[in-house]
Amino acid sequence: MLKIAVLVSGGGTNLQAIIDASRNGSLGNTEIVRVISNNADAYALERARAAGIETAVVSRAVNPEPSDYDRALIDAVDASQADLVVLAGFLVKIPEAMVAKYRMRIINIHPSLIPSFCGTGFYGLKVHEAALARGVKVSGATVHYVDEDMDTGPIIAQKAVEVLEDDTPKTLQRRIMEEAEWVILPQAIRLIADGH
Ligand code: GAR
Repeated sequence: MLKIAVLVSGGGTNLQAIIDASRNGSLGNTEIVRVISNNADAYALERARAAGIETAVVSRAVNPEPSDYDRALIDAVDASQADLVVLAGFLVKIPEAMVAKYRMRIINIHPSLIPSFCGTGFYGLKVHEAALARGVKVSGATVHYVDEDMDTGPIIAQKAVEVLEDDTPKTLQRRIMEEAEWVILPQAIRLIADGH
């Protein structure tokens, strides 16, 4: 049984995709044991509660000192006894001490085809604004392991999505979520659960 902790910051549609995949059996031998948010108002927390999953909030508001925040986040993950940590729209950098402790056991979904439109400052809608500004005709999503830098760890899965002539950042974001993110994130978890 692979125990999974999911870290979130916002709406939680990727969390929902994982919950749905877990329910229909496509995540293999796994259990989502805890959802942790840096934002007490994240709708993702509602999704977790509705699914009966334990939640925790570790925010900078409560831990203004960076070292306290890092410690509190690591403690919240440790307490879940998770084997795998999934960043599903978690928009805060992972502390180096946590990367070291959970090396190759933290994965992240990023809404572009890495190495395009990734790294510091590229998160959420900003990624799609940059892709449209550059005029790319194909974008997509990537699931990768998390290392000490931003979006640089080994790639597990990618899926391309066509950019349409009349796309706005929001329409592109939504299509990439539907066609790529919600597909490859559960698939990547399944691969890991199956020992690949
Ligand atoms: C998703 O598009 C995810 O790929 C992105 O934030 C969104 C969260 O949506 N993550 C990043 O940009 C990480 N750099 P969600 O809360 O509905 O899953």
